[in-house]
Amino acid sequence: MTIRPLVILPDTRLKLVSEPVGPVTAEIRGIVADMFETMYDAPGVGLAAIQIGVAKRIVTIDTSKDENAREPRVFLDPEVVWSSEEKRVYDEGCLSIPEYYGEVERPDRVRVKFRDLDGKEREIEADGLLATCIQHEIDHLNGVLFIDHLSKLKRDRVVKKFAKAAKRDAA
Ligand code: NI
Repeated sequence: MTIRPLVILPDTRLKLVSEPVGPVTAEIRGIVADMFETMYDAPGVGLAAIQIGVAKRIVTIDTSKDENAREPRVFLDPEVVWSSEEKRVYDEGCLSIPEYYGEVERPDRVRVKFRDLDGKEREIEADGLLATCIQHEIDHLNGVLFIDHLSKLKRDRVVKKFAKAAKRDAA
């Protein structure tokens, strides 16, 4: 398992629509292992494969927030099949937009269809932080960031700030 470098805003790879996973090969398992390693190291509660530069529809999540009681979850090709009318607002962050947070409103509960690491089709109903997190990560698979849910003013401001920082680092 390897900690991989994170893809950071304004890297255009974050806008890619990721490809279906296909058969669960040793390569896919390796990517998943690296994603957990990278996510726990950051630390973060969720990661999409594109955030380590892999454009495949893979999501890792652990909302347990307790190092001694980890709850690693893997979602291959996840898809929201139902979402509640009720909404929930959460102050979201993203490992690709470090140290920036913004309130995003999303459905409070969702039902998600996905495949597990055995390639088996599964479905879960999630609420609270897990629901927020799954929706945030599925957005990544479609090239969408949480800042895309904010006002244009806020989004432009943060993109500009990260573009400037990237230029500075490259200089
Ligand atoms: Ni994110």
